[in-house]
Amino acid sequence: MQREQWGSRFGFIMAAAGSAVGLGNVWKFPYLVGENGGSAFLIIYIAFMATIGIGLMMAEIGIGRYSQMNPVGAFRKIAGRGWSWAGMLGVITAIIIMSYYSVVGGWTIAYFIDTLSGAVVGGTPDELGSKFGALVGDTTRPIIYDVIFLGLTLAVVIAGVSSGIEKAVKVLMPLLFIMLIVLVARSVTLEGASAGIDFLLSPKWDEVGMGTISAALGQSFFSLSLGMGALVTYGSYLNKNDNIRSSASWVCFLDTAVAVLAGFLVMPAVFAFGFNPGAGPGLTFITLPAVFSGMWGGQLFQAFFFFMLFVAAITSSISLVAIPVSYLSEQFHMSRVKATLLVGAIVFVVSIPCSLSLGIWSDYTLFGYGVLDLLSNTVDWYLLPIGGIAVAVCAGWFAYDKIAAELTNHGELPFPLLGAWKFIMRIVAPIAITWVLVGPFLT
Ligand code: PHE
Repeated sequence: MQREQWGSRFGFIMAAAGSAVGLGNVWKFPYLVGENGGSAFLIIYIAFMATIGIGLMMAEIGIGRYSQMNPVGAFRKIAGRGWSWAGMLGVITAIIIMSYYSVVGGWTIAYFIDTLSGAVVGGTPDELGSKFGALVGDTTRPIIYDVIFLGLTLAVVIAGVSSGIEKAVKVLMPLLFIMLIVLVARSVTLEGASAGIDFLLSPKWDEVGMGTISAALGQSFFSLSLGMGALVTYGSYLNKNDNIRSSASWVCFLDTAVAVLAGFLVMPAVFAFGFNPGAGPGLTFITLPAVFSGMWGGQLFQAFFFFMLFVAAITSSISLVAIPVSYLSEQFHMSRVKATLLVGAIVFVVSIPCSLSLGIWSDYTLFGYGVLDLLSNTVDWYLLPIGGIAVAVCAGWFAYDKIAAELTNHGELPFPLLGAWKFIMRIVAPIAITWVLVGPFLT
């Protein structure tokens, strides 16, 4: 059977950017910047993106395109049996991420609906904070929206990814970019916005510790969808003539641009309206309604914003579900429908304690974290970095020739920085990531 392929290079870039650009950029990035002292975090983050991030992205896409298989089969095919665990780790990580991603994805739907009905249009910081708290701390509402979000994701994956998704992302992603720019323009011209802009532009290096560096690396992996097989999977549907190096560069650029823009959307509003930048996960949901309030057509803009946030989230969650689905259907010859429903059932079960951990189960903690935070931190601090080391070592040492051939299309495409890429994969990435992994235990 002929393997599915992306219809065009633009389609692949939009799909990969759809995976990369998600809640990580618009929801998580601004609050991490806020919690980690502002622009010093931003600078470290961009440095990771421009070196290790982009290098690993090329490697993952290369592994996928070489093998034309799901991550488990791909690692095995390119580097031998002993490497299947690296793919397996990705499959498991994808299921874990999806379990809390669908909860937050559900919040975007809830906010969209509440905006339409006028329930969250403007208010004081306290009022907006308690509206957010009331939603996420509720027992049934967030789970209902979680199911809707998950159901929509599964429906798209069942329908077959390439034509459906590709068509959708080609329209929705550009729209998201335009929308963001318009909203940023509004936010930076708010009265009192300059304190937020300063916060983003003046690094406070004395606040930078090992924790900041770990958070920046973990976030760069999460945001680029690295270290867990998403790009191996998407790369496996890529045409052999496509230029991986340039596509990967585009995806990294778009992803970083959206994160930085989201910072410039959220932070000026935080300072202009007197919110606390270290407010944590509620930051985007709480501050944005303040940006739109009082603005001409504010309710409409706000509804559109939460719709776009939903779009960003679902184009990412589709890629998350696609990983275990491709694994189950290829390795166990399961039908696509069956595999998707099985993955959906597992994700749903794990997502329940995630959601409840912000409400009635908030007293159940491990190391001081509730279930959602525990899973999210385990992913960012351990699973993605370990996955990243695996990709780097595999690409740099065990399958270098094969991947280099993918990156240059067997010598047809020039890649002047191939030597630098090899050096990053062999030496820089494994050492830097290991240091970030174990660093917190040494201090
Ligand atoms: N990159 C996505 C985001 O920033 C999250 C994601 C991680 C998606 C891993 C797929 C795989 O929201």
